[in-house]
Amino acid sequence: MSETTPGSSVSRPFLETRREDNWWVGPMATAMGLLAFTVYTTWAALQGEHYSWGPYLSPFYSPLIKPEGWPLSPAILILWAPGGFRLTCYYYRKSYYRAFMAMPPACAVAAAPHKYRGERALFIFQNLHRFFFYLAMLFVVILTYDAIIAFNFDGSFGIGVGSIVLTLNAVFIAAFTFGCNSFRHLVGGNVDCYSCASMGKQRHLLWRVVTFFNKKHMEWAWISLFWVGFSDAYVRLVSMGIITDMRIL
Ligand code: FES
Repeated sequence: MSETTPGSSVSRPFLETRREDNWWVGPMATAMGLLAFTVYTTWAALQGEHYSWGPYLSPFYSPLIKPEGWPLSPAILILWAPGGFRLTCYYYRKSYYRAFMAMPPACAVAAAPHKYRGERALFIFQNLHRFFFYLAMLFVVILTYDAIIAFNFDGSFGIGVGSIVLTLNAVFIAAFTFGCNSFRHLVGGNVDCYSCASMGKQRHLLWRVVTFFNKKHMEWAWISLFWVGFSDAYVRLVSMGIITDMRIL
């Protein structure tokens, strides 16, 4: 099995490399992380119960939409939006192209013996990312609202561990969303000169904020992925009575 490097006639066997470091650790950890998250999310989304307790609502079920006669879990109605946002994210594309399709598995390592044709045919859906970004911004607002509600215990202000868990979830999701490449392009992609553009000062400031988060986009992608799953698990375990939500105030 071999691949031909584009633009050359040199044929390289799959995984051939001169790298001497443990290059396979990254793609393998990525594959395990994404697989674990997908399995847990699918299971949790299909449960359709134990997604809320007191003022807490699992982010997998927010916003909670339960139409009359809908026979399946309400999570199915909303999870396609944040799921699509992550699936088409430029960082995640790189990571799962490497981890699952070996196209290539890592820098300077020969790719799997199939032709990479770019993001055409079936992969054309990746172009929907900018539209998923608009929806993701809406989810930032919704999850922030959920975080605020998580401090309301029967009409009085209180702080439980769950309040902090859901607040951090909103913060991490916002940090991931604000660093989106589509957002960065939207803010400054078509501007050559901020001082000449209308609202240039404000746009430059916003561009700097987006760039700040964009620089650590991979880190925010993983932190927010782990925490959103943890938030669901926390609310679920409290709701099932397996653990008790500790009140701080
Ligand atoms: Fe990663 Fe847009 S590029 S969320």
